[in-house]
Amino acid sequence: MVDVGILGATGMVGQRFISLLDKHPDFNLTSLCASSRSAGKRYEDATTWYLDEPMPESVKDIIVTDSDPNEVSSDTEIFFSSLPSEFAAKKEKAFAKNHVVASNASALRMEKDIPLIIPEVNPDFLAMIEEQQKNNNWDGFIVTNPNCSTIALTLTLKPIQDNFNIKKVHVSTMQAISGAGYDGVPSMAIIDNLVPYIGGEEEKMESETLYLLGSQENGNVTPCNFNVSASCHRVPVVDGHTEAVFIEFEDDFEISEVSDKMSSFKGLPQELNLHSAPENPVIVTEMEDRPQPRMDRNANNGMSVTVGRMRKDAVFENSLKYVLVGHNTIRGAAGASILNAELINNKIL
Ligand SMILES: NC(=O)c1ccc[n+]([C@@H]2O[C@H](COP(=O)([O-])OP(=O)(O)OC[C@H]3O[C@@H](n4cnc5c(N)ncnc54)[C@H](OP(=O)(O)O)[C@@H]3O)[C@@H](O)[C@H]2O)c1
Repeated sequence: MVDVGILGATGMVGQRFISLLDKHPDFNLTSLCASSRSAGKRYEDATTWYLDEPMPESVKDIIVTDSDPNEVSSDTEIFFSSLPSEFAAKKEKAFAKNHVVASNASALRMEKDIPLIIPEVNPDFLAMIEEQQKNNNWDGFIVTNPNCSTIALTLTLKPIQDNFNIKKVHVSTMQAISGAGYDGVPSMAIIDNLVPYIGGEEEKMESETLYLLGSQENGNVTPCNFNVSASCHRVPVVDGHTEAVFIEFEDDFEISEVSDKMSSFKGLPQELNLHSAPENPVIVTEMEDRPQPRMDRNANNGMSVTVGRMRKDAVFENSLKYVLVGHNTIRGAAGASILNAELINNKIL
């Protein structure tokens, strides 16, 4: 068993980490860190628990510490980070001197030598770690996972990219409120409403997707050869991001072929039989009114993305439309970091 800890353990994503790490076969949760507001308190007293499932008994009495590497045991090998981005860069780098950091925060994504990974899509980017350790003189290292909407989109684009020539991608998101954190969206702003702006989200989707579907050599990433344009919106759904995807191909294609390639798509986590790897990262449904967030976000414990309404565009040539749903705090956040750590544990530690 590998001892692990969480930075940002009291937050929305932190709680998902706790729930997903409870009874994990490889990881033993020993350390919970948050801000100085929570430090010194029992976890149960420091946290407003929001998940449907109860807080695991095993964490209730753990005393929360500040997110400071001097306050934690050197035996804790991996730290999962769900720190707010404004504090993440400095704190994650401090932890990386002696620990592995698997981060959700956007602060260090795309930074040279720090791999941004979806294990089914670009596991080869882990090769950057050696250079990262050498350049920083660290015994540990940092690995990041993408933004929640990007992960769901990219998992569906990868089997298409591998088998067809994509010319361009447009995506319009309908994102859950949990994506903004516990204090993120005031109820008066979102009930009976929709907010057509999520700061920085479109830029993240447009740049991270190209990086993930690109190639890397010696830490230099060449983005994939098509562009993605995103429009992002917040909707009154608690968990589960929905995305309407529009793809133009270079040539004509068959819907059945695209659907087959998506349904049969598997990657390294499935080959290695990693604990959190879903059997099928992408599920294709033929039900005409699915996917829907409440019905489909928990597919394969929230680790699969569900695709439906796959059809040829009746107006534009060589074009495909579909709708996807992915769980934003599981596949899009905590589950993504845990799968990254399972891959690292299998391949590097
Ligand atoms: N929610 C999602 O769907 C999602 C998806 C992908 C990525 N992310 C990213 O994950 C991160 C966390 O998001 P969240 O939704 O979990 O936020 P959140 O609910 O607001 O939780 C923030 C956590 O960070 C801690 N914290 C705040 N200020 C701190 C400081 N100065 N030093 C150390 N710890 C501090 C908080 O501890 P206290 O309780 O002590 O204040 C809390 O544990 C963000 O970077 C976000 O962009 C979120």
